[in-house]
Amino acid sequence: VSGGAAHCYVHLPFCASRCGYCAFVVETGGPDRRDAYLRALLAEIDMRAGDLGALRTVYLGGGTPSLMGPRRIARLLERLGPHIVPGAEVSMEANPESVDAAALAAYRAAGVTRLSLGAQSFGERTLAVLGRRATPAQVRAAVAGAREAGFASVSVDLLFGVPGQTPAELEADLAAVTALGVNHVSWYELELKPGAALTLAGDELPGEDAAADAYERVVEGLEAAGHRWYETANFARPGHECRHSLAYWSAADYLGVGVGAVSTLRGERRRNAAGVDRYIAHLAAGRPPAYSVESLDDETRRRERWMLGLRLDRPLDLGWAGPPDHPDALRRLEAGGLLRRAGARVALTRRGRFLQNAVLQELMEYA
Ligand SMILES: C[S@@+](CC[C@H](N)C(=O)[O-])C[C@H]1O[C@@H](n2cnc3c(N)ncnc32)[C@H](O)[C@@H]1O
Ligand code: SF4
Repeated sequence: VSGGAAHCYVHLPFCASRCGYCAFVVETGGPDRRDAYLRALLAEIDMRAGDLGALRTVYLGGGTPSLMGPRRIARLLERLGPHIVPGAEVSMEANPESVDAAALAAYRAAGVTRLSLGAQSFGERTLAVLGRRATPAQVRAAVAGAREAGFASVSVDLLFGVPGQTPAELEADLAAVTALGVNHVSWYELELKPGAALTLAGDELPGEDAAADAYERVVEGLEAAGHRWYETANFARPGHECRHSLAYWSAADYLGVGVGAVSTLRGERRRNAAGVDRYIAHLAAGRPPAYSVESLDDETRRRERWMLGLRLDRPLDLGWAGPPDHPDALRRLEAGGLLRRAGARVALTRRGRFLQNAVLQELMEYA
């Protein structure tokens, strides 16, 4: 074993503006910094070549990777190319308003196989609450363009639990996304970290019951359209599950490059610092970016395996994950119809999946 990762994440932080709910490592402004950022990324990739194994998945995430443009994305994938195995999944996130048919074709030609488009909603009111730039028509055009360009998988991101979102509006989003006929959907519950601009506007989040109802409708609606609920917030037609995300949820090693990127390799978690200018300055001077390292002991890994493993719709192997903190809770949860056991394998029931956080709290102690 070379010890290098089979999965690589690349962070592309630039956005046209910061959405009021976003807590990712994002920088607005500075289109002039994109070339310098690309140079820094290439330098970091060269520096960490020893950590790159035969790559089965690559994920270009953001930020808004599509703001880098096809020429820079092609150069990035050229540099990673010698490490990428044939048949690898190469995903890229894109904001619909920043791609046209020509750009999509160029991303495909550069080696991107899977496109993930941020729609968030098809309702004007919800889009306005979120402060989104793309119109529903632009989302539809981007999906059509992606299909035309020949991406193997096309995914759309949506949000539920948006302040003021009514059940009727949610149904309209379900109808709109199923009409698109994409083969993958990520549908997250909106999470507002303290200090997010959206909270400061004084908007009210829906109550727990309303959010639970919305979640159930999302799952039912997408299943009825032929998607499998393969992870807490992810749905796919058979064969279109995101293999890169599956690697995360299976606690596999991965290398992350770019500002704010995280790597998990050989029992260590390494976090690059935020701040594009500092990242560029370090790499331009031939130094690694500023980062912190945490060593992952067996206890931490066991807790992570439980937290990640229960998100998937396949059983968790106790031999792999290790015992839960409260083994006695397994019987109680099984009697309560939230969990099933077969030998050394544990699986959540459908009801258990909807109550995943509560189940996890019964089984594990998280600080
Ligand atoms: C890394 S973001 C970048 C995607 C792209 N820039 C966009 O905004 O469409 C990927 C996805 O995370 C989700 N997301 C972002 N902020 C979130 C939040 N506060 N709560 C829940 N999901 C969020 C959105 O669905 C978004 O499409
Ligand atoms: S476009 Fe996406 S990454 Fe950028 S600020 Fe908005 S949600 Fe965050």
